[in-house]
Amino acid sequence: MDALRGLRILIAGDDPVTVEAARSGLVAEGALAEVCAAETGAVAAAAAGAPPAAVIALDGSEDALRAGLDPLGLQDGPLVVAVLDVVGPREPFDAIAARRLRALVQLQTMRGRNRELEGVIAAQAVSRRRELQGARLDGLRRLALSAEYRDDNTHEHTQRVGHLAALLARRIGLGDRTVWLVREAAPLHDIGKIAIPDSILLKPGRLSDEEYEVVKTHSLLGARVLAGGESELLEVAERIVRNHHERWDGNGYPDGLVGENIPAVARITAVADVFDVLVHERPYKDSWSVEDAAAEIRKGAGTQFDPDVVQAFEDLGPAEWMEAKHA
Ligand SMILES: [Fe+2]
Ligand SMILES: [Fe+2]
Repeated sequence: MDALRGLRILIAGDDPVTVEAARSGLVAEGALAEVCAAETGAVAAAAAGAPPAAVIALDGSEDALRAGLDPLGLQDGPLVVAVLDVVGPREPFDAIAARRLRALVQLQTMRGRNRELEGVIAAQAVSRRRELQGARLDGLRRLALSAEYRDDNTHEHTQRVGHLAALLARRIGLGDRTVWLVREAAPLHDIGKIAIPDSILLKPGRLSDEEYEVVKTHSLLGARVLAGGESELLEVAERIVRNHHERWDGNGYPDGLVGENIPAVARITAVADVFDVLVHERPYKDSWSVEDAAAEIRKGAGTQFDPDVVQAFEDLGPAEWMEAKHA
């Protein structure tokens, strides 16, 4: 007895006799039974205030009701039960029918909880992934910072290179995602300098041939640090770190790649890197004006640099060169 105690059940039907038979059967089982017309709008209005545990469709309108109450088909509307699902034709709505209805309501509630749970799990997975990506990015930024402290008395060179490289990437028409990757990865270009002794790295004046050979190892050493990374960002960073000293004519290092065999992200970073070094003071050189540095970049088109990247650099013009210098 009382299988439906406390449940709010809506009876949707237009025939007063069957409606009353169902209503009294439901009430006898403890349900809070309410009656409304079988038309979808009437049921939706009755269900709007306090959502019923179930809607009993008395006259074969259950499909229309299901579609009307859950227009997106997400199974989020109230449970709609055809009366014939719980009670045979011409049978009274008795205790057995009430238990059947109760079982259907419980099943629906369980499904609802499952969906909720799946939603929570999916949301947690997304936020965990974001956290992980954030941690990776943070780690990379710290790595870039540690390289900066070795190589640059203002500690801002690497960030400026990232900024200018992103401007160039945008100019030559790379997509938003790649521009972002370049922005984040280009600051790592000299990460390998962590492994170069201060006596060489910070030496004022010219390096001997042997010392220069040691400096050149920074691209391979840095690439080794980043090798095997699982994110696209690490892959792009590895390409930049390894190949930012390649030359368009094939006379660069470490791989002697020629032209478009050099990864585009490395060709872009090469221009940004050289420009930034030229316009700032280093232990071994004074700072150049942006115009002189631009002339030097122009001179390198087709030999040291990718002509398209140099053209993109030209397109930026003096105002943006100046801005890149102080970025
Ligand atoms: Fe470098
Ligand atoms: Fe650099």
